[in-house]
Amino acid sequence: MTLKDGLDAPSELTVIGGRPLLGRVRVPGCKGISHRALIFAAIANGRSTLRGLANGADVASTVTCLEALGVKIRAEGDGAVVRGLGFEGLREPTGVLECGNSGTTMRMVAGLVAGRDFLSVLVGDESLSARPMRRVLDPLAAAGARVDGRDGGALAPIVVRGGDLRGFRHELATASGQVKTALVLAGLQADGITEITEPAPSRDHTERMLTALGAPIERVGPSHLRVRAGEPTPFELTIPGDPSSAAFFIVAACIVPESDLVVESVSLNPARIAYVDVLRRMGAQIEITQTGVEVGEPVGEVHVVANRLIATDIAGDESIIDELPVLAIAAAFADGTTTIYDAAELAVKESNRIGTVEQELTQLGIGVEARPDGLVIHGGAPKGASLKSHGDHRIAMAGAVAGLAASGETTVRGFGVTAISYPGFAADLEAIVNPS
Ligand code: S3P
Repeated sequence: MTLKDGLDAPSELTVIGGRPLLGRVRVPGCKGISHRALIFAAIANGRSTLRGLANGADVASTVTCLEALGVKIRAEGDGAVVRGLGFEGLREPTGVLECGNSGTTMRMVAGLVAGRDFLSVLVGDESLSARPMRRVLDPLAAAGARVDGRDGGALAPIVVRGGDLRGFRHELATASGQVKTALVLAGLQADGITEITEPAPSRDHTERMLTALGAPIERVGPSHLRVRAGEPTPFELTIPGDPSSAAFFIVAACIVPESDLVVESVSLNPARIAYVDVLRRMGAQIEITQTGVEVGEPVGEVHVVANRLIATDIAGDESIIDELPVLAIAAAFADGTTTIYDAAELAVKESNRIGTVEQELTQLGIGVEARPDGLVIHGGAPKGASLKSHGDHRIAMAGAVAGLAASGETTVRGFGVTAISYPGFAADLEAIVNPS
């Protein structure tokens, strides 16, 4: 299957500041749920139907890896039909597993193949090859898989020779939805009981979905999971909109005067929309209405009306880590000084987001100081500038949001990287800043 439709994002985006965002917009399916839905459908024995899959390159990487493991995936409408094989049906890939830019793919697929008696070699692009992998490889080794990687096992390419796993106990040093999911996938293949604890709760799509699909996973506490051997049942799922993609429009509608925007059909999972609380603390006018539930995920719409923002302090826990670049843009337009702290993980995302946000805010004429665990941002009146994406989809879209509210014209170079999570971002934006 190819998920290439609409993958062409413009290589450069120019926006004129001050045009309000009006009307309604629908963002692509949630990327985190899409990766999980594809993997869970692959290990369910039978046919699953997924609608509204995220159409970006990251989710296409997960499709590529699953196909290389023998899973048949057929595109259908805006989703896919997956012929799941159960764990036992996965086959040794004849080539490398190409994970592209997707940390979620690499870490979760490592957990998926850890219990299979064959060799998997996982490779990524330059950015992914610099991101930490020990956090997933060490516990998989403790469970009984043989693992290795470049730089003494720290970096991709990584190698997993799976085999019989035994139930294990692992305490994550850093809360991580990706690592937790990898370990759950290993636990589902292990003999005995697996216990996973985290220093703080991370996003819980995996628990919600697997519980709804009858897999043997139990929440012992908010940061403690117990997993036994088993598989989910095949399923049908309509994937709700991605709250992290919605965040770009929501922040833009907060900071561009006279905006009045509704984002439709978004996952309202509390572990994903905590950024709304931060914006409300800054004075944003945001109303949320739940309209339904989909495989354990609340879904609804978000209505934003522009309002002057004031600075706040933001602790960077895992539930808002992906939205910190765009929250930094909100802070750049707010009255006062915002401190983002406890967010050292920002440095090991698709780019070093502490450094890249600092550089781009400086370009916009904003006073900013980088710290090892975050940023101090002195709000002001950003001026249109020439910005760079640094090969990072979220930095590209955050730059566009800044340009929408800045004075004059802003250009974001390297904008094509938005194809990683949101290929249609520029087109969807054009429709709401210029409603017909
Ligand atoms: C993700 C978890 C987070 C997030 C990433 C997606 C997931 O990463 O930043 O974009 O789908 O579980 P970590 O697990 O590294 O915190």
